[in-house]
Amino acid sequence: MDYTVMMPAAGSGQRMGAGYNKLFLQLDHKPIIIHTLLVFEGDPACKGIILAVKPDERQEIQSMLDRFEISKIKVIVDGGTERQYSVAACIEAHAENGIVLVHDAARPFLKRSVIADLVQKATEFGAAIAAVQPKDTMKTATDGVVEETVDREKLWIIQTPQAFKYEVLKAASELAARDGFLGTDESMLVERLGHPVQIVESTYENVKMTTQEDLAFGEIILKRQLEDFV
Ligand code: CTP
Ligand code: MG
Repeated sequence: MDYTVMMPAAGSGQRMGAGYNKLFLQLDHKPIIIHTLLVFEGDPACKGIILAVKPDERQEIQSMLDRFEISKIKVIVDGGTERQYSVAACIEAHAENGIVLVHDAARPFLKRSVIADLVQKATEFGAAIAAVQPKDTMKTATDGVVEETVDREKLWIIQTPQAFKYEVLKAASELAARDGFLGTDESMLVERLGHPVQIVESTYENVKMTTQEDLAFGEIILKRQLEDFV
C-alpha cells in the first residue's frame, strides 16, 4: 500500500538554540532534514514528499535536495507561523485520495516497519499514530505537590508519523481552521471530528531533535542504526 508524506520543516528550532533552523545541523555529515528525507527516499511504498519550508530557506533547502539527490519531492510549499499551518499548506497542495503520512522533519530515526504498520492501520481505520509507552512512573501534580499516580499502561507518548486517509485529515484540518483551533498534532484535529485514532507502537529511537542533548542521543542512535545495516 503506497502513501504520500507531508513533512513540516518550516520551524525555527528555538529550543535547540543553534541560532538557525536546527534541521540544518549535521549528524554524520548530513543535515538532519536529509536524514529524515532519506528514510522516505529509500521506502518503495513512498510515492512522493510534500515539504513545507520557510520562504527564505527555500533556496538553501533546494540545494541540499540537489546535493543529496532527493528525488521524491512533489512540491515545496511555504510553511506558516505555526506547525499546524505548515501542515495545512501541505494538505492544500495535495488533493489526492489515498494514505498520507505527516512526519516532522526533525525525527530522522524512523523505522520503516513503523511506517508499514501505520499505513496498514490507516488504510483499515482512517487514522493511526506512532507512539511509545512511558518507561518511568507517571504522576500528576499541582503547584509541585503530587495529586496521584497515573496508570502507566494507559499512557502513550505521541510521535510522528501520523497516518490518515486523505479525506479524514483534510476534513479535520478544515474544521480546525473554521473554529480557529490550534492543536499540537494532527490526531488532535482528527479527534475533534469524532473519528477514532489507532495507536501504533513505535520505537524509542524515533526521538525528535529538539534540544542540545537530543543531538548527543542522535549520534548514538545513528551509529547503532549504521551498525545494524552492515
Ligand atoms: N515546523 C513547521 N512550521 C512551524 C513550526 C514547526 O513546519 N511554524 C516543523 C519543524 O521544522 C519541525 C516540526 O514542525 O520539523 C516539529 O516542530 P518542532 O520540533 O517544534 O520544531 P521547531 O518549531 O523548529 O522548534 P522550536 O519549537 O524549538 O522552535
Ligand atoms: Mg516548535
